[in-house]
Amino acid sequence: MTMYDKADYEHAVAVIRSYTAQQTGVGLVLGSGLGGLADALADAVTIPYTEIPGWPQSTVVGHSGELVIGRLEGCWVVAQRGRAHYYEGYTMQQVTFPIRVMQLLGVRTLILTNAAGGLNTGYRTGDVMLLNDHINLVGMTGNNPLMGPNDESIGPRFPGMTHTYDRDLRRLAHQVADEAGIKLHEGVYVCLSGPSYETPAEIRMLRIWGADAVGMSTAHEVLVARHAGMRVLAFSGITNEAIDDPDHETDTNHEEVLDAGKVIVPKLTTILRGVVRTLA
Ligand code: HPA
Repeated sequence: MTMYDKADYEHAVAVIRSYTAQQTGVGLVLGSGLGGLADALADAVTIPYTEIPGWPQSTVVGHSGELVIGRLEGCWVVAQRGRAHYYEGYTMQQVTFPIRVMQLLGVRTLILTNAAGGLNTGYRTGDVMLLNDHINLVGMTGNNPLMGPNDESIGPRFPGMTHTYDRDLRRLAHQVADEAGIKLHEGVYVCLSGPSYETPAEIRMLRIWGADAVGMSTAHEVLVARHAGMRVLAFSGITNEAIDDPDHETDTNHEEVLDAGKVIVPKLTTILRGVVRTLA
């Protein structure tokens, strides 16, 4: 298993600092088909992931691989344009390495986005959901990124997860969405490993569990961010409606996931702008 320690994170930070000394209190993680959000950053400095030691490279179509540091509504943010996934063969420590680097860069508020399938039958393709909780199936079944030696200078051995998705930030997101006339659902995200999409029986099971959206990221990054004491806000862009019937005419595919991103990016950009304007 690839394990990292603080020296590895500090090494990555030193390289990023050689590009810019700009302090950034807010971090953004941009999911599948949502990287276009980084175009909204002004005075941007772009650092390819290949230049940052230890940084996992994304191999997936729809995920570019660069760190962008720039201003959004007067607020300096550090944005991951593209993320690595567990299904690409990385360990959980590798997948969440960027969150540790953001911690050492001074990020205190982390905003994550992902592409997800809509389990809630009230959700439509193109909708946006605010996460108020998650079910981390991958972590629950023995692949939690916080497993292994714990560095107390980074975070506690047994972090609580009751208040994972910050209530004040959620309230703010709703306020911004309401003012902009954007419908914003709020619900539970379930994280699976992928890369295969779910079977209809799995979809029906996930609904019984109380999940509203299903995806292959975010939950493990959120665990690391909360371990680091960051405030967390996260959104799912609903890129497809989950199929619960084996006789359904069509199948879920990555192209529809990327296509829906085009409708979702403008909505999320509006919401994120409004949120960070208040944080600035
Ligand atoms: N399932 C899992 N992950 C996803 C989906 C889905 O339907 N859509 C986008 N990411």
